[in-house]
Amino acid sequence: MKPMRVLVTGGAGFLGSHLCDSLLSDGHSVIAVDNLLTGRMSNVDHLRNEPRFELRQHDICEPFDFGKVDYVFHFASPASPVDYSIHGIATLRVGSLGTFNALELAKKYGAGYLISSTSECYGDPLEHPQKETYWGHVNPIGPRSVYDEAKRFSEAATAAYRRYHKVETRIARIFNTYGPRMQINDGRVIPNFMKQAFRGEDLTVYGDGSQTRSFCYVSDEIDGLVRLAWSSDPGPVNIGNPNEFTILECARAVLEVTGSKSKIRYEPLPQDDPKQRRPDITKAKQLLGWEPKIGLKDGLKMSLEYFRQAVAELKS
Ligand SMILES: NC(=O)c1ccc[n+]([C@@H]2O[C@H](COP(=O)([O-])OP(=O)(O)OC[C@H]3O[C@@H](n4cnc5c(N)ncnc54)[C@H](O)[C@@H]3O)[C@@H](O)[C@H]2O)c1
Repeated sequence: MKPMRVLVTGGAGFLGSHLCDSLLSDGHSVIAVDNLLTGRMSNVDHLRNEPRFELRQHDICEPFDFGKVDYVFHFASPASPVDYSIHGIATLRVGSLGTFNALELAKKYGAGYLISSTSECYGDPLEHPQKETYWGHVNPIGPRSVYDEAKRFSEAATAAYRRYHKVETRIARIFNTYGPRMQINDGRVIPNFMKQAFRGEDLTVYGDGSQTRSFCYVSDEIDGLVRLAWSSDPGPVNIGNPNEFTILECARAVLEVTGSKSKIRYEPLPQDDPKQRRPDITKAKQLLGWEPKIGLKDGLKMSLEYFRQAVAELKS
């Protein structure tokens, strides 16, 4: 493929920074646009001397244009339950105004466009596993709605720019992804368990731990997203790992991999916590020839050093 000039909103975040790495290693030039609301400079520090990489500190709710680009990956948005509950209004703004600005840029330059949507669009689903044809079961005014509805709106805006303006859009519905560079305090299951395990604290399981999640290792996720970007399908396409684990099984896997002697403690289930979430990835398999390769324990082992270091830095 010819080298392109690619813009990544949210490029200093967890997934955005891994995406930048992947695009750079494929020979493209990358402009990351990020206001560092939930992202960190340290995620892209290793790219400081890379001439094909630049980071622009900018809030994408304000219009932006850093010159002609061939592709826009729109990843900016608080993503973890902790972040989007603290930054509820900012989440709605970036999902609406930020999405419009990213779409406008793609329209202006005739660039391709991919949005990182989410399994949260399915809400607390009544269908298992979730296929892309399922419309979801979302509480529009509950505590998670700032994120769920912002993403559903982003999908609607993306579909409309394809329909009305012929922008070459793609929608990826990302399911829980984990790996190095996740924020240690973001309240998501794996960083939480890792932090508690490394500190010798009890691992907190909400409810009876029988609610299930699927976890995709970050390199698998990025591979699926990039394949979708270069495909001609508008999506939505689920990109996630269909192997389902109960939260309790996940806690036990973290204890095993870290060798921690921590115990498991049960707490009441928060409001609107989905009981089960698992992608049906038939579409991704058929369309992109993609499926995840890395199992949970291997992915946890590959993340171990990062989390160990991140927990040590918290203490110091
Ligand atoms: N990590 C997951 O498991 C997961 C699952 C589903 C969907 N997603 C989606 O993937 C994308 C990236 O998620 P992540 O886990 O890397 O989260 P993250 O918080 O690490 O990254 C998001 C980035 O967007 C930036 N940002 C937020 N608002 C901005 C604004 N107004 N202007 C410029 N930059 C802004 C943040 O500073 C951060 O660097 C998000 O859109 C999220 O909804 C992630």
